[in-house]
Amino acid sequence: MKKSILALATAAAFALGSLSAYASPITLKFSHVVAENTPKGQMATKFKALVDERLKGKVKVEIFPNGQLFGDNKVLEALLLGDVQLAAPSLSKFKKYTKKLQIFDLPFLFNDMAAAERFQQSEAGQGLLKSVEKKGLIGLGYMHNGMKQMSASKPLHVPADAKGLKFRIMSSDVLAAQFEAVGATPLKKPYSEVFTLLQTKAIDGQENTWSNIRSKKFYEVQDNITSSDHGLLDYMVVTSAEFWNGLDKDVRTELKKALDEAVKYGNKVAAEKSMSDKQAIIDSKRTNVIELTKEERQQWADVMKPVWKQFEAIVGKDLLDAAIAANKE
Ligand code: SIN
Repeated sequence: MKKSILALATAAAFALGSLSAYASPITLKFSHVVAENTPKGQMATKFKALVDERLKGKVKVEIFPNGQLFGDNKVLEALLLGDVQLAAPSLSKFKKYTKKLQIFDLPFLFNDMAAAERFQQSEAGQGLLKSVEKKGLIGLGYMHNGMKQMSASKPLHVPADAKGLKFRIMSSDVLAAQFEAVGATPLKKPYSEVFTLLQTKAIDGQENTWSNIRSKKFYEVQDNITSSDHGLLDYMVVTSAEFWNGLDKDVRTELKKALDEAVKYGNKVAAEKSMSDKQAIIDSKRTNVIELTKEERQQWADVMKPVWKQFEAIVGKDLLDAAIAANKE
């Protein structure tokens, strides 16, 4: 009798054990390189909150900001290895996985963020999300940060002012060509190193959005920032096909819904911060913010735009035409 009670208890414990193993939540690690108070950081926080609310007990989101877990140049590899499940690197960091996304780095391509949004939502833009699929990644959507500005140790009014200076760039050949076009030296360096490189004067300048310049305090170690709006810094939210396709359909649907909502929220934050962070930097009086005249800005465009021709064959003429067309409403 005693024996059978023991056997029953053991069987029940096993059953409960396997049930709880089955019921334990899927952990979704979201790794990114920016601060939590940036558009991408806030998008991640919103996504976690929505998932906590709607998929409680099924999915647990863990966020790793500031490159704590992986830098952008490693995070895509980490996704494929299953070390993280979600990332949103800048579109400039996908070169190893697709060359097509380099279109987004072309200088002076989009007149404003509305044009970038129109292109991203167009058939051509949505098709680009699939350009990473052959490599085992799934593009879940775009997210905005905003237009890039140039900062440097000396005032940059016209392209000749940048001649001979060293600029940190993201790992993009288009961005390298853009700075070579003005006679500067581009250096591909991780985001996590930019502040120190600027502070120690190992480099003279960099390009980034107002929210990144503010959150990473680049304005405290750069005497000048030119409000140039010369290029785009946006993101692709990505996961691995192995992880995504392995999820139950209903969980996948809920996650995508939460992500779309979080991205919408993040885009709103991005639009606000592109103005408020610029103003906060001006108000700080730590740096000289230069507004270009129409003629000065045109000079930058004239010198940088020939880069388009260099990359036309790589990104494709049809795609380039579609992006240019997005400038018209
Ligand atoms: C980011 O916004 O994710 C980083 C951008 C950079 O590397 O400059």
